Amino acid sequence: MAKKKRKVRYDRIIILIPGCALIIGAIFMGISCITDENKTQTSDQPGNSAKEPVKDITQVEGYQILKDGGLSDEQIEEMTTLSNYWPQRAQRYAAYQGAETVELTVLHVNMDLDLEPYENSVTVTDDADMTLLVNKSHALPEGYVPADLGVMEQYACVAGEDYSCQDVAYMELRSEALNAYYQWCQAAQEQGISIRAIAGYRSYDYQAGLWNYNAGLYGEEYADLYYARPGQSEHNSGLAVDITFNGHNFNEIELYDGYEWILSSAHDYGFILRYPEEKQDITRYGYESWHFRYVGKDAAKIIYDNNWTLEEYHGSQKKEKTQN
Ligand code: DAL
Ligand code: ZN
Repeated sequence: MAKKKRKVRYDRIIILIPGCALIIGAIFMGISCITDENKTQTSDQPGNSAKEPVKDITQVEGYQILKDGGLSDEQIEEMTTLSNYWPQRAQRYAAYQGAETVELTVLHVNMDLDLEPYENSVTVTDDADMTLLVNKSHALPEGYVPADLGVMEQYACVAGEDYSCQDVAYMELRSEALNAYYQWCQAAQEQGISIRAIAGYRSYDYQAGLWNYNAGLYGEEYADLYYARPGQSEHNSGLAVDITFNGHNFNEIELYDGYEWILSSAHDYGFILRYPEEKQDITRYGYESWHFRYVGKDAAKIIYDNNWTLEEYHGSQKKEKTQN
């Protein structure tokens, strides 16, 4: 069968071409409108609209000091945006060589690790703050006595009965710490753990005698590792308690069943282990499994959850909370 030859209708093609062009054009315009609309909507959203004003890093407090100290603008930017950047320490940050990162530099200097122990000690003035820092860089005023000491009526060791219990008439802690200590000991007792205090508040003069005695016997280096100098002991603050339990040698309580409970419950009552074994570079004291410090429940929980010392807690705070 012979193929029927199709006749090409040029007249239709002439109409079709402009028609298609019109349709395609309309589609493109539509898409472009939608996209523009989306752009407009996006830019109306908070935070995306106007560009953030460009921060002038040279205007940041401490900039010139850090710059003169050899920090780059990037390092200065990173440092000054840390929440625990204390501008008054800019000079010390710039001079510190003991940390690898900007963040650690700030933390170390905030913890006074750039200073030698006892160098330029700050005098503690605000004892209303239960987290107050007493250490080798923070000293209580000479002769300081807390105004709210209370006598320990329960859970104090008994000389002749408890290991290493000194024959003192009574032991004392500041009242808030004392009540918290009672509650902690009561909870421990329910676990079969008999916590007993072997030391609480110590006077400035008593601490001086203790340090001198040990320095004379074992040398200054040893005395400084385990005994605070007068004014620089937390025992002088009335917020520290040395404990033993179930009649064990206080010096080795960490070896006995029950210590784990003591460690894991202390913060629930506002206490922290003050001189942990792995933090000696920060606390600058040897490990003391027996020395607990009252800081209040909120701070104790933060310190416990972060595995911090009190120095790290303070060094991580914003500058408003600090004195120097
Ligand atoms: N044992 C601690 C460091 C003191 O003497 O306060
Ligand atoms: Zn102690």
